[in-house]
Amino acid sequence: MEQKINSIAEEVKSFSIASKETLENFRLKFISKKGMVPSLFDELKQATADEKKKVGKLLNDLKQLAEAKFKSAQEELENAPSETATNIDLSLPVVPNKLGNQHPLSLTRYRIVEVFERLGFSLADGPEIEDDEHNFTALNFPLNHPAREMQDTFFVEKNPDILLRTHTSNVQIRLMKKQKPPIRAIMPGRVFRNEAISARAHCFFHQVEGLYVDKNVGFADLKQTLYHFAQEMYGKDIKIRYRPSFFPFTEPSAEIDISCLICKGKGCNICKHSGWVEIAGSGMVHPNVLRNCGIDPEEYTGFAFGMGIERVTQLLFQVNDLRLYSENDIRFLKQFKPVV
Ligand code: DAH
Repeated sequence: MEQKINSIAEEVKSFSIASKETLENFRLKFISKKGMVPSLFDELKQATADEKKKVGKLLNDLKQLAEAKFKSAQEELENAPSETATNIDLSLPVVPNKLGNQHPLSLTRYRIVEVFERLGFSLADGPEIEDDEHNFTALNFPLNHPAREMQDTFFVEKNPDILLRTHTSNVQIRLMKKQKPPIRAIMPGRVFRNEAISARAHCFFHQVEGLYVDKNVGFADLKQTLYHFAQEMYGKDIKIRYRPSFFPFTEPSAEIDISCLICKGKGCNICKHSGWVEIAGSGMVHPNVLRNCGIDPEEYTGFAFGMGIERVTQLLFQVNDLRLYSENDIRFLKQFKPVV
């Protein structure tokens, strides 16, 4: 019997298991109920006590050997890549990764910039942390003038005053100080005001400033430029109106309204039931502002405007709560696709 056990042990060792099929064959041959190892145990029952002693351990070793080989081969086969996995067609295009999309305010900003670039405006940029001179004084806000209070300011430092710019008009000054007319530029950016956050107000928002300074620039140029912009942005049916207003840096000054696209002029929450929505402040650049920047107001005139990007976006996408733009809620953000 000893010899038999040894030869079966050799067989177990040399049996090659390369697939699930051969694994099953191995099991049937050696360890299943009717396999060789259990039948050796049956044989052992008939053996004499002496023999039992002698071969019992050998037989147990054989059983362990066969079971261990089965188990490790089984694990190996399970971890091996499945046939379908090895059959992957590497020439197929990959499943695209989900990329994020552009923020609705960026989409609007790109569109605004695009319209003005086609009109020959160039792009300019200025700092968000600004000094009093560029945010107020050079823009003809006299010291202690109440107009400063229209723009509740976040101060970074006092005396000399450093602040978060309250509008993009600071870039007008920076541009006119370093570049002589003709100047035709648009200046998008983030601005900050100390306002309680609600659906209609936020402590930061975005503007696009526009400036055109040259010989013989008149109010008609301002009107036509912004009318063209509104039509490009919202379609040919859009209506536009100018309401007299006041800004220290323009004279005369006007607020620009466009007809409400949401209710088509009938009156709704967004237009406060007036049928009109304000999108920008504008006017002819005040002679003092030109002078503050070293430009002779006798020789040059200009128009300027400051447009709220959130407002323009609201009318494009009908979003009526300002807070949504900065909450980073993916359910909101993923809805916006470029408008072509
Ligand atoms: N800076 C103004 C504001 O934030 C908007 C504005 C009005 C800008 C008239 C201009 C302008 O350039 O000409 O309220």
